[in-house]
Amino acid sequence: MIITIDGPAGAGKSLAARRLAKQLGFRFLDTGAMYRAVTLAGLRQQIDWADTGALAKLAAASQIELTDEQVFLNGEDVTKPIRSFEVTTLTRHAADNLAVRERLTGLQREFANNHNVVTEGRDQATEVFPTAELKIYLTASDEVRAQRRFEDLRSRGEQVTLAEVLEKQIQRDARDQQREVGGLRMAEDSIEVCTDGLTADEVVAKLAKLAKATQSQGG
Ligand code: DC
Repeated sequence: MIITIDGPAGAGKSLAARRLAKQLGFRFLDTGAMYRAVTLAGLRQQIDWADTGALAKLAAASQIELTDEQVFLNGEDVTKPIRSFEVTTLTRHAADNLAVRERLTGLQREFANNHNVVTEGRDQATEVFPTAELKIYLTASDEVRAQRRFEDLRSRGEQVTLAEVLEKQIQRDARDQQREVGGLRMAEDSIEVCTDGLTADEVVAKLAKLAKATQSQGG
């Protein structure tokens, strides 16, 4: 069974998806981490971001492996560095690159092959797993999402202001929505869940209930 969780940054996807997977005993796939890993590889190689061919080549040559908790780039644990503000800001180059998307989409399908998976991203329901048994579209208001991202970054020692985070979020939302391939769109058969005012526990409980209902329908 495949459960997709798509939605904008800061809606609480990662935490909810990870915990839901654990509760159900499913594999967890953080597809944003893949785009981040390619971005980190580019940063380290001081790539010319305007050179889309070079980034595609780099992505093709990079070994990206994910476990439920960690992300590895060419065998190195990059779980932490891929979350920096700099990587977050630069991920659009990887996300906008069709060859990179193709490569990562292939890796995502491989990861899910013959497994029960909870996968989270932007395009999981629409492009990568259109036949997924349960599709969730997780949202939250702009302010709630920015506040969450801000607290997360500060807790990791990043010197950012809430205003900066909100401004970058607005830009990233626009880019994510306008991206022709792999853009953020709600699939027709997705269920929208707004996480404003809900604790992480409450969100997970809501999703687990939907998953159980799908499973009992034979999904
Ligand atoms: O979910 P996240 O913030 O870790 O995602 C990082 C970036 O990657 C985000 O700007 C959008 C992009 N992304 C994407 O284009 N497709 C996905 N399936 C997941 C993320």
